[in-house]
Amino acid sequence: MGNPNRVKAESGFMRWVDDRFPATQMWQDHLSKYYAPKNFNVWYFFGSLALLVLVNQILTGVWLTMSYNPSAEGAFASVEYIMRDVEWGWLIRYMHSTGASAFFVVVYLHMFRGLLYGSYKAPRELVWIFGMAIYLALMAEAFMGYLLPWGQMSYWGAQVIISLFSAIPGIGPDLAQWVRGDYLISGITLNRFFALHVVALPIVILALVVLHLIALHEVGSNNPDGIDIKAKKDETGKPIDGIPFHPYYTVKDVFGVAVFLFVFCVVLFYFPEGGGYFLEKPNFEPANPLKTPDHIAPVWYFTPFYAILRAITFSIFGLDAKFLGVVFMGAAIAVLFVMPWLDRSPVNSMRYKGWISKVMLTLFVISFVILGVLGVLPATDGRTLLAQVCTAIYFAFFLLMPFYTRMEKTKPVPERVTG
Ligand code: HEM
Repeated sequence: MGNPNRVKAESGFMRWVDDRFPATQMWQDHLSKYYAPKNFNVWYFFGSLALLVLVNQILTGVWLTMSYNPSAEGAFASVEYIMRDVEWGWLIRYMHSTGASAFFVVVYLHMFRGLLYGSYKAPRELVWIFGMAIYLALMAEAFMGYLLPWGQMSYWGAQVIISLFSAIPGIGPDLAQWVRGDYLISGITLNRFFALHVVALPIVILALVVLHLIALHEVGSNNPDGIDIKAKKDETGKPIDGIPFHPYYTVKDVFGVAVFLFVFCVVLFYFPEGGGYFLEKPNFEPANPLKTPDHIAPVWYFTPFYAILRAITFSIFGLDAKFLGVVFMGAAIAVLFVMPWLDRSPVNSMRYKGWISKVMLTLFVISFVILGVLGVLPATDGRTLLAQVCTAIYFAFFLLMPFYTRMEKTKPVPERVTG
């Protein structure tokens, strides 16, 4: 019965299942006979941690939805009700709001690992592109989620970001109105953001994660040395430097999960608002369309891009500064999609790249962090100048990459993976 080419259990219940669904085959392909390089280091924990946080967000999100009221009249009060009256509501809400920040910490470290070891390069271009699509969807998900508590920063943050659409010449104002569903952010906007946040985007994110992993398992994982373990196989066809994902990495990942949960719990129980960075102070006041907060800043994970937007204070080719800011902000994210084609180095891992790549990556990380800090602070002339310098470095890292990766002298790559 079923597909005779599949690996199947000999007998019993699993045989019954295998005749109808390729369970044993999938278990082998993705776990017990998926050979991963034996030299994974701490940077490789963040993929499984991203999965863990994703599950946390979905479970806590479903429970929040049971008591949340998606209307302009009831949203703020329903969140207070969850915090005060719903049993364990405070914990579920904090697991979700602190979980959102944890998601970005984990995903940024996961992406950095890709930059460090050249994991975006052939044949993993699609792994990277699906990853970038996840990142975009995650940003949309977080942005819409932040409107739901209907606090001052929810309201005004969304107001600022949606008004960016209106900077697009011609269609801009109509587009912004279409996104809001109203002339101003209103209960209508809240309702549609709720639908997208709770139903549409989670489905998109889950589907993209499945595609991300299918693409990864098709070509195999990269590793800190950036060399192809499939180039050296033993007589049975297994990569000499590979070990079965299960049990070796499933067990190793449990250790990563334990460390992560320890840190996450410390933040969750002692600093759930992250000092005003995970849940900003003005958000403890209900949204008031007649009172603008003194200073509007997005949540920390958006601030590097927000700083790039604000760094563009000049107009070029008759395009006004606000629109140009939007273009630069979009380009800062878009350029990441084409990374696989910007890096022309003969080697993958930073371990064997030349000094220019190392300096550029370091400068890139420093400017990204500085932009992140500047994005939270009110703008001054000095800060705008610094943001402009960091924006220039940010783009130089990518746009000069085709040149410096080809020019520089690389180190010899080992035949087999090192420690
Ligand atoms: C919900 C978010 C995400 C989840 C659940 C996720 C999950 C995973 C998992 C489980 C792995 C294999 C384990 C590992 O190599 O760490 C992986 C690998 C990878 N991911 Fe993600 N990922 C996510 C987002 C992203 C993003 C945003 C990017 C980059 C734009 C990305 C790029 C990569 C790359 C390049 C690899 C292969 C790494 C290598 O083999 O060295 N991922 N991902």
